[in-house]
Amino acid sequence: MADLARSFLVLGLLIATVPSLGHALLSRKPKTSVEIQNVLEGRDDLTIHCKSKDDDLGVQYLKPRENFSFRFRPNIFGTTLFFCSFAWKGGVCRWFDIYEHDRDEHCTKCTWQIFKEGPCRFTVDDYDYGGEHGVVDELCYDWNPDRC
Ligand SMILES: *[C@@H]1O[C@H](CO)[C@@H](O)[C@H](O)[C@H]1NC(C)=O
Repeated sequence: MADLARSFLVLGLLIATVPSLGHALLSRKPKTSVEIQNVLEGRDDLTIHCKSKDDDLGVQYLKPRENFSFRFRPNIFGTTLFFCSFAWKGGVCRWFDIYEHDRDEHCTKCTWQIFKEGPCRFTVDDYDYGGEHGVVDELCYDWNPDRC
């Protein structure tokens, strides 16, 4: 009888764990894109260098209004992090975590504008109002406290 009970327990555990395990392994998250636009006051050029723990996206030079964008698939552990340095005229250099899972998991197209005071993220409403996609939200952040 104890064996039978144990069998039921094992079977129950399998049913409870395997579907979610399979789900986690098979359902890969969709790709997320991050776009960064140079809107520095004074029309300064912007030098960006973005990295994650595993990827170095290289040094990018942006003229006024130019963009740099990249795509990635957030990991299933909820720990995806991309951080960038932003440098401009006069030796100014600032850090910012441009993609941080807990803050950004709901944006699949994250659009940032870089001001000297800090970056602002625009959330674009993906709902299609007959061809018009409105910017619904703009959130501005402080630079990371540590200097580069
Ligand atoms: C940069 O991206 C923004 C937002 O997607 C777009 O409006 C703008 O035209 C782009 N600028 C350039 C120079 O491609």
